[in-house]
Order: sequence, then C-alpha cells, then structure tokens
Amino acid sequence: MTTLPLARVYLDANRTISEISPLLFGGFAEHMGRCIYQGIYDPASPLADEKGLRRDVIAALKELNFRIIRYPGGNFLSGYHWLDGVGPKDKRPRRRELAWQSIETNQFGVNEFMEFCRALGTRPLLGTNFGTGSIEESASLVEYCNAAPGSAYADLRAAHGYPEPHGVQYWCLGNEMDGPWQIGHLEAEAYALKAREAAKMMKWHDSSLKLSLCGSSGFGMPTFPEWDRTALEICWEQTDYLSLHTYVGNRENDTASYLAVPFDLEYQVDTLEATLRYVKAKLRSKHDVFLSWDEWNVWYKAQNMQGGWTEAPHLIEEVYNLEDALVVAQWMNLFLRRAQALKMACLAQIVNVIAPILTDANGLVKQTIFYPFRLFSQYAKGLALDALVQTPRYATAKYGDAPVLDASASWDAASDEGAVFLVNRSQSESLPVELIWQSQAPQRISGVYQIAGDDPKAANTFASPNTILPASLAAPEIKDQRAALLLPPLSFTVITTNS
Ligand code: AHR
Repeated sequence: MTTLPLARVYLDANRTISEISPLLFGGFAEHMGRCIYQGIYDPASPLADEKGLRRDVIAALKELNFRIIRYPGGNFLSGYHWLDGVGPKDKRPRRRELAWQSIETNQFGVNEFMEFCRALGTRPLLGTNFGTGSIEESASLVEYCNAAPGSAYADLRAAHGYPEPHGVQYWCLGNEMDGPWQIGHLEAEAYALKAREAAKMMKWHDSSLKLSLCGSSGFGMPTFPEWDRTALEICWEQTDYLSLHTYVGNRENDTASYLAVPFDLEYQVDTLEATLRYVKAKLRSKHDVFLSWDEWNVWYKAQNMQGGWTEAPHLIEEVYNLEDALVVAQWMNLFLRRAQALKMACLAQIVNVIAPILTDANGLVKQTIFYPFRLFSQYAKGLALDALVQTPRYATAKYGDAPVLDASASWDAASDEGAVFLVNRSQSESLPVELIWQSQAPQRISGVYQIAGDDPKAANTFASPNTILPASLAAPEIKDQRAALLLPPLSFTVITTNS
C-alpha cells in the first residue's frame, strides 16, 4: 500500500466557530414501514417492555444519545390527525394512510411517543399537519400537550392518563410543503401565510415554543432557494428554525465522487445561511433564525415506498456499507464546521426505515452508520474549532480535485476535553497526518477510535453483524505540541484529548 504526502491539521482553542448545539444529535421517527410498528413499538414481542416498547431497540438507541427526536413524519404527517392516535386503543380508527399506501392502526400516538422519549431520555420535536390539517388542529395539539388541566384538550389529556403537561418545546410547522408529492402541497406564499397564523395561535397557547418553518426539501428542487426566501420573509418573526432536508447516495457507483459529496452539502447549507442573512437584513430584524437539518441521511438503494395497504410493510430498509458510514462521518464534520448556522439536525430515520438499526423478531443489527453517529454524539461537545487543514488532493469525476482529508474538531472548556474527527477519502492510500496545537496542547490523547476497511461495500447484516465496528487503537504521544497518525484508506478516526 502506498502512502500519501503528509496532511496537517492546525488546532487553536482561541480560533473557534461557535458552540456546538446538542440538538445537532437528533433523530427522526415516522409512521412509515416498520419504524414505529415492529421497530420501536411491538407489544406482542417477548422483547417488549410493559409499555410495548422494544427493550433491545431502546438500549441501542440510548447508545446514540439522541438529544431530540422528530415525530410523526415525514410525508405521513400531512394526512395525519393527531386525535386518531390518543385515547382508548380499542376506539382508535384503522385508516388508509395515503403517503405510504399502508394501514395505520393508530395504536401508537402522541402519548406513546412521549413515553418513548422518556424511556430514551430525549426531547420531542412534534410536527403538525399542514396538508389536510387546519391551523386550529395545530393549536389544539399544543393545548393537548402543554396546557395545565382546566380546558377541553388539556382535560382530555388528563383523561387519557397524563394529568401533567408533556411540555413539548420544539415543533415543526408541517413537512416538505414545497414538494408536489406532499399531501396538500402549497406554494411558498400560501404555506407561509398559513404557517404564520398557526404559529401565532400555537405561541398564544405557549410562548416558550420554538418553531421550525419548512424550507426546501432538497437543494435540487426548482424552487430552491426562492421558496426559503419567500417563506422566511413572511414568517421571520414567528419562527426560530428553517428546516432543510437532504438524502445522498452513490447512484453512479463512483466512490471517489461519492466520498466528496460534502461539496453539495456545503453548497446547500451555505446558500441557506446566506438566505437567512439576506432576509434578516431586508427586514431590519433583531431576531435570529437558525438552520435545522431535520431529515438527513444516505438513501438511494431501497426505493420501495408503497405499502400495498398492509400494516408495517417493509419500506426503504436501506442496508448501509462502509462508504455510507464515511459519508455520514463527513456530514457530521460539516455540522461542526457550520456550527454557527446549524443548530438542530435529525438523522432520518432511527429504526428500520433508512436507519442505523434494523430489527427482526429476534433482535437487531447495528448498521455501519450507527458508529460514526455514536462517536460524534459522544465526543463532539463545547465549541467547534476552526481547524486549518493542509491536505493532498485527489481527482473526482463529479467535483474535480477534492481534499483527501475531511476534518473537524471540538473542544469543551468545562471538561477540558477535545476531539478531532478525520476521514481519509482515499480508497487505496494511507494518509499520514500531523495534529498541531497552536494554543496550549492537551496533556494527552485519551482515545483513538477508528472505523476502516478495504471494501467500501462492506456492510453489517444479521448473518454478519460485526463486519464494520470501531476499533480502539493505541494513543500516540503529544510531543512539542504535535502528534502523528497514519490513517488507513477508507477510514474514519476520532482522537479524543484531555488535560
Ligand atoms: O424519510 C422518508 C421521507 O423522506 C419523509 O417522509 C419525507 O419527508 C422525505 O421525503
């Protein structure tokens, strides 16, 4: 194996980007396929607890330490009436669910979702229906969730067994309303006028709410970024986040280009950050709106989206491989490099449906993307550092020359712990890297964790669940403010430090 020229990463605790919002480590659970039913909730399973939640799934998701989970959709949201999913289970309607052509039993609803969040120790991010739903329906869900007993919907919640308010602070105003595929799709202006009125009512129920406006459902949309500008100009003062969605994949089977896909992701986030700045300036506003990447993942292999009017069909159960895990790691590097604008993100989704975990009746498998998410969720905290990276480059068909090394870094003043996240995009060559601390160097490297392999298509399956796992490696010494590492090809490495 050949070795590339040396790459250098310069770190300085005084050269920072922004605080890393813990809400960047979020997930998304939709009533789609087997995410909820047979994934999270399966009361008939011997693996379920007394509330019907799969114990093995809860344990695996806890490892990912999600700080927030978005629910209940997705395209499902735009045809969903939340009242169907509360109250006695034998009275809940079975419905034809149009987004995924499935049967929705409504055995899992808002209260079961709150139990799930409690079991995980995470916050809910609730979506309200802007397709077939009214602004009154959005507002009444806020009353149901957050009001103290003494009014109709709060009393209904109490009658359903929850006298204490759920206290849901984060809300999405609909889902992908720019998409013609969306139930009740609207033009930007029509959507924004409705969102503004719903937001007013929702915040009158609870002024502490944080609301997220639908932005473009992808940077390839013909209305990107005009949709975003229009919606923001109408709703700026009422909202706190602009959502963006992205799914990427290696459709041309061109791994060199696929590994450089952060070029596209940077384009999307930078364009939207510029749009936020433009609208704030145009409106002469003192208010800030941040970006929420509330659907993001690799998704291109599994395309079956029609449930054939069955319960919990197998839909888009993507199997992830090593190159997908390296893309997820780079996406999270970008979260840190754009930490000033990105304040929330939700991995789409969390179980079975384009997810880090696949279940069957007997257990689960942790997919390759599980591990980079876990490493970031565990070690990226405090401040994102503006690392200066010098790296060799390589040729790609899609983006021209691209850096071989993709990097980010964090440092937490409270614990004096740091982390450096490094992806070697080369498929065949090792990359020597020198870490150089320009401010005071940490006393020691406390851990080195690495995901690597020869085969970009290697995956974890039920038959072979441990093909791709992070290895814990010997820590190099820090000498003269420097540490040296050799990154194998197709690898993701996390270096943790403390003082
Ligand atoms: O996550 C799967 C689907 O992708 C969601 O329902 C929708 O919002 C997006 O298009």
